[in-house]
Amino acid sequence: MADDTTDTKSSNQMWGGRFASGPDAIMEEINASIGFDKKLFAQDIRGSIAHATMLAHQGIISTDDKDKIVHGLNTILSEIEGGNFEFSRQLEDIHMNVEARLATLIGPAAGRLHTARSRNDQVALDFRLWVKEELQKTEQMLTGLIAAFLDRAEEHAESVMPGFTHLQTAQPVTFGHHCMAYVEMFGRDRSRVRHAIEHLDESPIGAAALAGTGYPIDRHMTAKALGFREPTRNSIDTVSDRDFAIEFLSIAAIAGMHLSRLAEEIVIWSTPQFGFVRLSDAFSTGSSIMPQKKNPDAAELVRAKTGRINGSLVALLTIMKGLPLAYSKDMQEDKEQVFDAAESLELAIAAMTGMVRDMTVNTARMKEAAGSGYSTATDLADWLVREAGLPFRDAHHVTGRAVALAENKGCDLAELPLSDLQAIHAAITDKVYDVLTVEASVASRKSFGGTAPSEVRKQIAFWRARN
Ligand code: ARG
Repeated sequence: MADDTTDTKSSNQMWGGRFASGPDAIMEEINASIGFDKKLFAQDIRGSIAHATMLAHQGIISTDDKDKIVHGLNTILSEIEGGNFEFSRQLEDIHMNVEARLATLIGPAAGRLHTARSRNDQVALDFRLWVKEELQKTEQMLTGLIAAFLDRAEEHAESVMPGFTHLQTAQPVTFGHHCMAYVEMFGRDRSRVRHAIEHLDESPIGAAALAGTGYPIDRHMTAKALGFREPTRNSIDTVSDRDFAIEFLSIAAIAGMHLSRLAEEIVIWSTPQFGFVRLSDAFSTGSSIMPQKKNPDAAELVRAKTGRINGSLVALLTIMKGLPLAYSKDMQEDKEQVFDAAESLELAIAAMTGMVRDMTVNTARMKEAAGSGYSTATDLADWLVREAGLPFRDAHHVTGRAVALAENKGCDLAELPLSDLQAIHAAITDKVYDVLTVEASVASRKSFGGTAPSEVRKQIAFWRARN
C-alpha cells in the first residue's frame, strides 16, 4: 500500500512526536472515527470545559489559560452547531478535531487542556454522557407510549375481544385488559432504563490513560459539574468499561422485542380476516399493483427494526468479549452500534405511539369474534363446579361433551337447548345461560389482575398515578 507520498506526509500533530511519517491511506481510513463520533461534539466540549475549570481551580493551569480555553471551546461549539466547522479525517476523532481547532483559535494555551487526562477517559466520558441523555429521552418516549395505551385502555375497559393462547381463541378478555398488558411490558422497560441511568451515573474523567494521574486533580468536582452522582472508583475499569453501552443495547433489545410483538398483533388485527383494528391512511401505505390494499408498513418496519437492534447488541458483546484490560482500539467500534440502535428504537417507539393513538378499534367485530370458538367453555365448567358441586376435572369432561355436541350441531354453546345440556348432565339448569355470554364471562374474572372491567379500571388508576 505504501507509495512514495507516504514519507512526505507529516506525522500527526497531536501525537506524532515519535513518528517520522504520516499514516498509510488505508491506515487513516480504518483508524478514523470522526465520521461517526462527531455526534459527540457537545459532550466532548462540555467535558473539556469541566476539566479545564477543575485544572484551574486546582492550580494546575492558570486562570488566564482556562479562560482562553473555555472561550475557545464555546466558539467551537457554536461553529459546529452552526455548520461552520470543517471536520478532518487526518485528525482521527472528535477529541483531536476539537483540540486542533482550539489551538488555531487560542494558540499555545490550547496545549494545556490535555493535562491530566487521556483520550481514553475522554471518550469514556463523552460516550457516557451521550448514552445517559439517550436513556433519559427513551424514558420520556416510553412514558408517552404508556400514556397512549392508558387512554385506549380506559376507552375500551368494557370492549370484549377474544383472548388467545397459541393464537387460538381461548377465553374472552377486554381490549382494555389487552392494552394494559403492554403497559406492564413498557413499564418494565422504563424501569430498566431508570436502573441503567443509575448504573452509569459515575464520572470517568480523571482516570487518564488507565492508572490515574500524578496531578492533584479533583474528580469529585468534575463529576459534580457534569451532573454525575460521583466519580468512578477504579481507573482501570473506567477506561475498559462499556457496560453502560451494552446495558443500553440490552434494554433496547428487550423493548424492541416488546414493540415487535405489538407490531405483529397490529399486522394480524388489521387483516380483513381479523378486522379488529384499522389504521388510518396516516399509518398505512398502498400497493402499486393491487388497488384494494392498505398495508400496515409502519408496524412491519417496527417489527424489522428489532432485528437491527439485536444485531447491535450481539456486535458490541462480541467486540468486548475478548479484550484484555484496559483500553483497546476495538472499543472505538462501540459507537455506531449504539447510535444505530438508538435511532431505530426512537423511531419504533414514536411510530408505535402514533399507531396506538391512531388505530380505529372495531368493537363489533371483536365482540363477534369473542363469542365464537366456544370461548365461554371454561365458564360452563366453572358454573358446574360452583352450582352443581362437580370436581373441576369432571366439569371439564362434561363441558367437553357439550362443546362436541354444539360443534356437531354447528351452533354456539349458548344456542344449545336446555334439554340437550341436561341430557349431558342432569344438574344443569337454565341459570347456566347467564354465564355463557362473553360479557358475563369477563365480568366474572375479578381476581386481582383479571380481565373484569372493574379490575382493569383499578390497574389503569394504578398506572395513571405512576405515569
Ligand atoms: N476514537 C477513540 C475511540 O473512539 C478515542 C480513544 C482513543 N484512544 C487511544 N488511545 N487511541 O475509542
